[in-house]
Amino acid sequence: MRSETRRERYNKKRQVAQEFPLEICTCSFQCDENIAYVLRAAACFGCAAVNVIGSLPQNRILTSRSGSLQDYIQINQHASPHNFLEYARENNIHLISAELDESATSIHSYAFPLDKRICIIVGHETLGVPVELLLNSDKVFIDMPGTGYSLNTSQCANIFLYEITKRYRDLPAVGLRNGAVAGAGFAG
Ligand SMILES: C[S@@+](CC[C@H](N)C(=O)[O-])C[C@H]1O[C@@H](n2cnc3c(N)ncnc32)[C@H](O)[C@@H]1O
Repeated sequence: MRSETRRERYNKKRQVAQEFPLEICTCSFQCDENIAYVLRAAACFGCAAVNVIGSLPQNRILTSRSGSLQDYIQINQHASPHNFLEYARENNIHLISAELDESATSIHSYAFPLDKRICIIVGHETLGVPVELLLNSDKVFIDMPGTGYSLNTSQCANIFLYEITKRYRDLPAVGLRNGAVAGAGFAG
């Protein structure tokens, strides 16, 4: 049996955890659990923040589905896609929408701008990414060779986070929490 509580383990790992100039944006999900899964993945992969357009589910849902990790990630709430766009502009954040759009680029060939702050936008389960955000972002899709035609939105976020953090790790010492950023030219 473990002698440490989950929070004690988080607090210990946090001291050596990496944090990247990487955020996620969620769009008024219809399934509350998906936000919790995104928060969990964001905390596991070292995101700087999760942006939530619309409302947040009750804390008990977040706690049970995120493994309490919602307390370890910065959550920024925005009233509308427009408000989120203003936040992104003010903070010089490069926006990338996960979307199966005809003009989208495959995640395999897309050159993520790792020298900038970036935010991956994942869409509503039925409505997708709001048009206003699509018009102001790069569009990137995940290839799906199987029968299904669309991933669950939180699983889509997981794949993007895995892919981007893999690319960060291939760079020399980038984005270390509490540390100077070296080598990759991260502009802050
Ligand atoms: C269930 S899908 C939404 C499908 C929606 N009915 C539509 O047609 O736009 C939820 C979100 O997951 C993301 N997504 C799902 N599969 C994807 C893929 N293969 N590539 C990129 N994004 C994907 C997109 O952000 C999408 O808006």
